This record gives sequence, C-alpha cells and structure tokens, in this order.
Amino acid sequence: MQQQTNIRTQDEAAAAPRLNVVAGGAGFIGSHLCRALLDRGEAVLCLDNLQTARPSNLRALEGRAGFLFVQHDISQPLPAAVTGAAGIARVWNLACAASPPLYQRDPEHTMLTNVVGTNHLLRLAEGAGARFLLTSTSEVYGDPEHHPQAEDYRGNVSCTGPRACYDEGKRAAEALTFDYARAGRAEVRVARIFNTYGPNMDPADGRVVSNLICQALRGEALTIYGDGSQTRSFCFVSDMVAGLMALMEADFDGMEPVNLGNPVEMTVRELLGHVQALTGTGAAVEQRPLPVDDPRRRRPDITRAGALLGWAPRVPLAEGLAATCAWFADELGALPHKTGTMNRDGIAGRGTPAGAAAPAGTEPRRPGRASAAAAQ
Ligand SMILES: NC(=O)c1ccc[n+]([C@@H]2O[C@H](COP(=O)([O-])OP(=O)(O)OC[C@H]3O[C@@H](n4cnc5c(N)ncnc54)[C@H](O)[C@@H]3O)[C@@H](O)[C@H]2O)c1
Repeated sequence: MQQQTNIRTQDEAAAAPRLNVVAGGAGFIGSHLCRALLDRGEAVLCLDNLQTARPSNLRALEGRAGFLFVQHDISQPLPAAVTGAAGIARVWNLACAASPPLYQRDPEHTMLTNVVGTNHLLRLAEGAGARFLLTSTSEVYGDPEHHPQAEDYRGNVSCTGPRACYDEGKRAAEALTFDYARAGRAEVRVARIFNTYGPNMDPADGRVVSNLICQALRGEALTIYGDGSQTRSFCFVSDMVAGLMALMEADFDGMEPVNLGNPVEMTVRELLGHVQALTGTGAAVEQRPLPVDDPRRRRPDITRAGALLGWAPRVPLAEGLAATCAWFADELGALPHKTGTMNRDGIAGRGTPAGAAAPAGTEPRRPGRASAAAAQ
C-alpha cells in the first residue's frame, strides 16, 4: 500500500477542488464515501491506520485523481502532512472499528480513538475553518427502553460492560463535538448510524449480515446469538452514504444529532430466513449465547433526517441483500446456490438498485478468512 505525502500547498489549493479529510476512509462505509466524494469531483485525503480496513477498499481508490492516502492513527497527534494541507473544507470522522469483536480486542485504543482521535480531528477542522462530521452510532442508545429510538432518547448504556469502550467512547465523542460547536470553535454535524451493510464489508469482522451470508456461501452452519428474536434494522450502504453527504451539507446549526438508518425492523431469525432463501443454503442453524449487553431491539426514528435533509433510505432489503450476497460470493470465490438470481450489482440482472452505489472497484478474488465469533 503506497502512502502519499504530496499534500497540496496553499497555491495549489486555491485552484483545486475542495478537500475532504476522511478519517477511516479505507473501511467499509468510509471507502464508499471516498468514492462518492471523488465521483462528485472533490479531493479526498484518506487518513486511516488500516486496523480494520480492507486493503482492496484502498486499492480501488488509489490512483484516482484527487485521492491521497496517509497511514496514521488518529489517537496520535496528526502529522504535518495533514495539518499543513491547504484548502481543507470538510473533515469526516469515520475512524473506529465498528464490529464488536474488533473494537473489544483493544478497548483502551477504542476509547482513545473516539475521544482523543475525535479531538485531534476537531482541532484540524477548527484550524482549517472546515465543517466536521462525526459518525456516532445507535449504540449511544444502549439496550433501549424506548422504541423506536428518537434522538432525544438518552439511552440505556452500561458504562462498565465490554461494549462501553465503544458506546461510551462515542457518547464522549458526541459531547466533545457539541462542546466545540457551542464554543464557536467548529461547525459540526453528528450522525447516529444504525446497522449498515453492503459490499466492502470485511467477511471476517463478525457483523450479523456478513456472518450469515459468508457462512451460507461457504456451506457452513449458520450461527445466531440467543433465539434470534432480537431485532435490528438494516440500511444499505449507498443509502447511508447519501444520508451522510446530505447531513454534511445541510443548512442548519448542527446542534442536534441525526439518526441515519433504515426503519424497517426485523428479527435476526427473519434476516436468517432471507439469507437462506437468497443463497439456497440448507446448512444447520446453531444457536450461541447472547453476548453481554446485546441490545434486544433496534429501530431508528428517522423523522428528523426526513425533515432536515429530505432523506430516507431507498434500497429495499431484498435488493441490498442480493447485491451484498453477490459481492461476497465474488470475494470468497464461492458460487452462490442460486446464481441465476444474483449479480454483483443488484438482482436478477436488473443492474444497480435505485440509488445504490455499485460495489467499489473490480478487485481480484481472494480466499476468504475464517469468520470471527461475533456479536450481532
Ligand atoms: N457499519 C455500521 O453498521 C455502523 C453502525 C454505527 C456506527 N458506525 C460508525 O461508522 C464508522 C465507520 O464504520 P465501518 O462500518 O465502516 O467500520 P470499519 O471498521 O469498516 O471502518 C473503520 C475504519 O477506521 C479505521 N480506524 C480505526 N481506528 C482508527 C484510528 N485510531 N486511526 C485511524 N483509523 C482508524 C479502520 O482501519 C477502518 O478503515 C465508525 O465510526 C463506526 O463507529 C458504523
């Protein structure tokens, strides 16, 4: 992976398209965001420590005009190559492992990424006079007592459990972000992202959609945690990126978080049924114990996103899952049982779903890694 440091100077910046710093840009959602910004004709400086990034996400971006990559951990002071870049207009903070087994592997680092790392990026935005967007999470609602979750619900989070490094880290990052805004130090936006899925997910990072699809494609037993009656709401990644971009550009004071997610709620059992039908797998289903503090219900109230951004998800689960399944089949070199119903971009030869970004790049196939034992 090539690290580029030819960040532009003041003179170059004056004539260049506006510059976006995307921390976490080599990850799942970040790679789609970088691509969408480049497609819009803007420049992107991707800042990532590659902790949970997929190298092929980055390979698909490298070489595109306006794209620069700097390998760096945001919990450490930002390098001069970034702080000295001229013309930074937008700072996006997506840097943080999102999968429970991965963010729990080094909880101290997860907490520092969220708090110290967010502070470094806020200072960058303050110095550049840039707008800052934090990707927070539905996990700030913890195991919710209110349903669906609206932004004014304050949550039910354990500050001592194994998920606290992430949940409380994100809550602290939100607090810090709004403190900068209150003090007039930076213009901010905060997105609370609910479960998102799609191409470019790491097959091994242990999220429920990628776990079930990869197990089905490999002919392995399908694992669910608890009895599968817990609910989730799944948003296709192109809808999420459209929501993030709309939020960043929205004309409001930014002093309130905005839920982004798909309000169609289903049980994990129902999701399992969709994956079984889509892949034709006849593999056994194995039940494992529910992880500590696993939320029982999850559904975003997206009224605020609708009112402020005119945004709502457009890709139905069937289309999004088919596109994701086809992408994973390609990644894993596996042939889905029902090849006739899927292609890499959509379903049944209908091409890319409405509003959906086609999977990034045409990366070569590579062997899959073993699935992580995971929370959902
Ligand atoms: N995917 C979801 O369903 C979901 C849900 C809620 C919130 N989010 C948030 O959205 C953001 C992106 O999530 P994702 O699903 O793309 O996760 P991801 O793990 O695929 O991407 C995160 C990226 O951040 C990088 N990173 C992690 N720690 C870093 C650090 N200290 N310094 C620099 N880079 C670092 C990783 O290498 C990776 O490329 C995260 O902040 C996550 O908390 C995601």
